[in-house]
Amino acid sequence: MTDKPTILVDADPQATSWSWAQARSKYKPDAPKVETTKMTGDIRPGIKDLAALYGHIVIDCGGADSVALRSGIMIAHRLLIPSKVARRDLETLKHVSTLVHTANEKRESQLIARVVFNMTRALPNFWTRIEGAKEAVEALGLQVCPYPIVERVSYDDTQYQGGTVFDDKTDQKAIDEMERVLKALLRKGKPE
Ligand SMILES: Nc1ncnc2c1ncn2[C@@H]1O[C@H](COP(=O)(O)OP(=O)(O)OP(=O)(O)O)[C@@H](O)[C@H]1O
Ligand SMILES: [Mg+2]
Repeated sequence: MTDKPTILVDADPQATSWSWAQARSKYKPDAPKVETTKMTGDIRPGIKDLAALYGHIVIDCGGADSVALRSGIMIAHRLLIPSKVARRDLETLKHVSTLVHTANEKRESQLIARVVFNMTRALPNFWTRIEGAKEAVEALGLQVCPYPIVERVSYDDTQYQGGTVFDDKTDQKAIDEMERVLKALLRKGKPE
């Protein structure tokens, strides 16, 4: 662990993470502050500068292919790829998988990449869909985070005014699943 602060870098032109942090300063002045900055294009030089000052750098590259995404994949230690289990969403992971494998051919150390299923349902028969999606993702050579994120109104309700489920503490299931996903991402080696 490190005493240095964390910064959130928004490299998605839609800048939803950045506006979330702006809303947080405005509506939640007493909540722990989240430092944020925006970047575009090749983010490697900017990230190298920040690495001297910050202990952790969280980069939001958005879902679309971009120079920012490709350059981020070259220097990140870990990549979290959120996806729905819907077949259409899984199709787009083919391209992400190619980006990850191409980057790994050039990188000195292998990128730890994990697909995390989001917007899943807490219904017993939904597990079959998740298992099917996991097989499809693994067939692409990507690893899956063993903990999916369920669709919960608390995520929508809290992020709207710059909050998180950790600030509000009203949805313990959401807090627990976020902690599990984070631990799985930070763990070294294969999931589980
Ligand atoms: N697990 C969830 N439960 C409920 N709502 C969710 C969940 N995940 C995302 N959402 C909602 O869906 C919307 C979009 O989510 P998010 O910003 O994560 O998507 P995104 O793919 O990053 O979008 P973009 O590609 O535009 O950046 C947000 O309003 C968010 O609150
Ligand atoms: Mg986004």
